Amino acid sequence: MLEEYPILTVGDPRLRVRSQPVIDSQDPELQRLIDILLETVQAAEGVGIAAPQLGYPQRVLVLASRPNPRYPQAPWMDPLVVINPQTLAVSDQLARGWEGCLSVPGQRGEVDRHHQVEVAYLDRQGQPQRQVWQGFVARVYQHELDHLEGRLFIDRLDPEAEVLSESAYQARIHSEEEVC
Ligand code: NI
Repeated sequence: MLEEYPILTVGDPRLRVRSQPVIDSQDPELQRLIDILLETVQAAEGVGIAAPQLGYPQRVLVLASRPNPRYPQAPWMDPLVVINPQTLAVSDQLARGWEGCLSVPGQRGEVDRHHQVEVAYLDRQGQPQRQVWQGFVARVYQHELDHLEGRLFIDRLDPEAEVLSESAYQARIHSEEEVC
């Protein structure tokens, strides 16, 4: 990851702030922040990142699902910049799945998320967009949206749900892969 833009980790109060809407999506400083988010999420082997994780309380997130050592089964997508997201609709159907977070190093937990979400947002060029995401990408969106509200996945853990260290999680998914 970029040394001059460290990812904040849990305990930092800046992760607990509600982020502000972007006023000017074409502001050069905002565009620079977007470049840094895109570079950082890739370097850190994340599948998404939100501006407050770098200490910028602005409503910008990146969805960047792709298989990597931290998420071997993640689907491929071109990294997508989402500015000022508005969740228009969610499915009643929930899905429980494993999550981690670049701001919560070394931990995985099972979290319930809506299976499908419909979202309106501005793209990097400031154009209004509307999209439906399902499954893992919908999960990543909901996780990143939480960051914009100052919320972390560890706030959503069911008391009955399992929490694993990163190494225990990796051992489990690799043994599951061998079963399949
Ligand atoms: Ni996160």
